[in-house]
Amino acid sequence: MTQVFNKDILQGKVAFVTGGGTGITGGVARAFAEHGAKLAIVSRKEENLAAMKAEVEAFGGECFTVAADVREYEAVEAAIAKTAEHYGKIDIVVNGAAGNFLCAADQLSPNGFGTVVDIDTKGTFNVCRAAFDELKKSKGQILNISATLHYLATPMQIHVSAAKAGVDAITRNLSVEWGRHGIRVNGIAPGPIEDTEGMKRLLMPELKDKLVRKIPVGRFGRIVDIENAALFLASDAASYVNGVTLVVDGGSWLLGTSLM
Ligand code: COA
Repeated sequence: MTQVFNKDILQGKVAFVTGGGTGITGGVARAFAEHGAKLAIVSRKEENLAAMKAEVEAFGGECFTVAADVREYEAVEAAIAKTAEHYGKIDIVVNGAAGNFLCAADQLSPNGFGTVVDIDTKGTFNVCRAAFDELKKSKGQILNISATLHYLATPMQIHVSAAKAGVDAITRNLSVEWGRHGIRVNGIAPGPIEDTEGMKRLLMPELKDKLVRKIPVGRFGRIVDIENAALFLASDAASYVNGVTLVVDGGSWLLGTSLM
């Protein structure tokens, strides 16, 4: 895909990205760095952080890494504090850390359900809450990575559906409560994105051809589609966009077809 946005649209901004080592959120983090932002990426896994840091530094970007579990508030607070100390501020927070697996509701343990809710929903709140003072100072913004699973119903995904419904509630609530502080809060709900580990793991190859025919625009999404949506929301072009979860799914969920 050709370059859509000017390379400097996030120049001087500091972006704190959870789950920023891999997958969709890793793409968003890298795209932010390619458009001028200084990155802080947070993941439980050191190896994911090191790979993204090397990739970003290879094209001349800056990438600060912090290993932390978003379920642990004190670890999140420390990650925010270290980032603010390192860069002097935080302008953009991206909540991308997530847990996912396929499991039927009657097989899922309460701890399995709670684990995903803890990572996605509580983790998103933890990061927003811990970043509030910094975002208030910078008149910054939050971008929550959500899903479309809960718009209708997605079998085998009750845990993620409940967790992402909670994330969307956080997006709406904080956009109202924190808008007055100059903090914009938005989300992105990716549809079926082809080039992710999640899709490779969740989608059986034999179903792929069948499913692609049900996507209104005739193709699966790509990580770059989410990167471009995130760049728009993070840029000044979206300065009056607040409380929105932008669906980037080629129109898939409107057909009511479970693609995940
Ligand atoms: N099917 C059913 N239950 C599962 C499961 C699966 N595939 N994977 C985990 N669980 C359950 C566990 O059985 C456990 O419940 P129990 O104590 O009642 O047995 C609970 O979830 C916690 O599992 P555990 O492995 O201890 O948690 P964790 O904190 O180490 O990791 C995940 C949980 C979800 C993050 C882990 O499964 C994972 O790493 N997934 C891949 C990462 C991912 O999907 N990222 C996001 C892409 S969208």
